[in-house]
Amino acid sequence: MTELSAVPAHVAVIMDGNGRWAKQRMQPRSFGHRAGRKSVDKIVAAAVQAGIDTLTLFAFSTENWNRPAAEVELIMDVIRRSIAEESQRLKAQNIRMRILGSRERLSEEMCRQFDAAESLTADCTGMQLIFALNYSGQWEILQTCRNLLAQAQAGGLSEELSLQDFEAARPIADLPPVDLLIRSSGEMRISNFLLWELAYAELYFTETLWPDFDEQEFQRALAAYAQRDRRFGALCTT
Ligand code: FPP
Repeated sequence: MTELSAVPAHVAVIMDGNGRWAKQRMQPRSFGHRAGRKSVDKIVAAAVQAGIDTLTLFAFSTENWNRPAAEVELIMDVIRRSIAEESQRLKAQNIRMRILGSRERLSEEMCRQFDAAESLTADCTGMQLIFALNYSGQWEILQTCRNLLAQAQAGGLSEELSLQDFEAARPIADLPPVDLLIRSSGEMRISNFLLWELAYAELYFTETLWPDFDEQEFQRALAAYAQRDRRFGALCTT
């Protein structure tokens, strides 16, 4: 079946290039991450405006722990502050905020703040905003297998494991498939992001560094998506 692409329901973004953006300005990497936060605010507003159902942002990968401790601390602080400061505003805009990722290595205070922001916006029925944090696609698949194993040990799983069983055991069971993946900064990699949900995603790469990524860039990505012919493995009809 050929499906004409209109507005993607689920957009996922790999926000890359903060460090290079700062370097171009002879500033420390922290300058780039702080500027990157402003782009997050712009893209959330643009996604609401465009009628996106789910926006998933790759905020911190399990591999990002390999950066110098001071940079890890800075990125975590920018994310923690952003979520704490923005949660009331998200609620006012009817945006449901969720975190996808492992709680391992996150401070108790950070987890408490995330729980509070998730609870505050839990009943919101507008766009769903997911921060993938301390996340990797392989972690998600492994976590899903662990959940299935626990179900099987409790006798709650049929031996004929189905696609639906697998999806329902994911850390966010109702996470929809990604329609459009955007990556900034010219890198053309998936970098262990949403491996399961990206199965049939359309990919959009731009040279723009994340702190320069704005509403117009987002519109350009949506326009490119609208031109794509999504066939999901079926034949081209034109
Ligand atoms: C990639 O740029 C960016 C990150 C690893 C961190 C993403 C964090 C933010 C955009 C801050 C705000 C986030 C939220 C959720 C409010 P890079 O450091 O890899 O850049 P480089 O490839 O140019 O070095």
